[in-house]
Amino acid sequence: MSNIAVLASGTGSNFQALLDADLSPSKIVVLIANNPKAPVMERARRAGIPAVLIDHRAHKTRTEFEDALIAELSVHSVDWVVLAGFMRILTPHFVHAFADRIVNIHPALCPAFPGVDAQRQALEAGVKITGCTVHLVDTGVDTGPILAQVAVPILEKDDEATLKARILAQEHALLPAVVRALGRGLLRTDERGHCWFAPASPAETSDPGADPVLRSPTTL
Ligand code: GRF
Repeated sequence: MSNIAVLASGTGSNFQALLDADLSPSKIVVLIANNPKAPVMERARRAGIPAVLIDHRAHKTRTEFEDALIAELSVHSVDWVVLAGFMRILTPHFVHAFADRIVNIHPALCPAFPGVDAQRQALEAGVKITGCTVHLVDTGVDTGPILAQVAVPILEKDDEATLKARILAQEHALLPAVVRALGRGLLRTDERGHCWFAPASPAETSDPGADPVLRSPTTL
């Protein structure tokens, strides 16, 4: 079993998708928000998950803020940290404290369009396919080893809102699938440092390695 912490700053639709999914044997043990007005806090309270506010503005330095995060995560014996719309860049201080145990969801096909407004960046670039990525967090911005991706076509009539909504719908399937597989110990790293999930066993339909989102992401 793995204890999952979710860090979020805003609406929390990805957090809701995690709440609604079967993550067993893992469970979400705490939601941490850095913004007192984040609607995600209410989602946690409604679900009976501890909702902790750690406001970055209440801390003088990034290190102090991150020490507060680390302390809270330790209280809950957290194994995996899931960044689900967490709008603070984490420094090496935090990343090293949870090395290879932090995942992030980004609304583009990494390494394309890192940072903010990824959907707008894709529209402005004129690409025809974008999507979403779940990756391990390293000390760069949206640069860590890629765990799984889903492609989303860009349509001629798309604007930022319609594209965001279609990518978000895929995020809601992808993030729980990855978190479930991580908690079940299915992550493998090859000699190049590339990440894969254990291959599906046709005989074991309950094997989350058989999860269609992870096995054949572009067909969603
Ligand atoms: C998502 O698009 C996610 O990819 C990005 O921030 C957004 C969070 O949305 N990192 P929500 O708060 O989960 O609805």
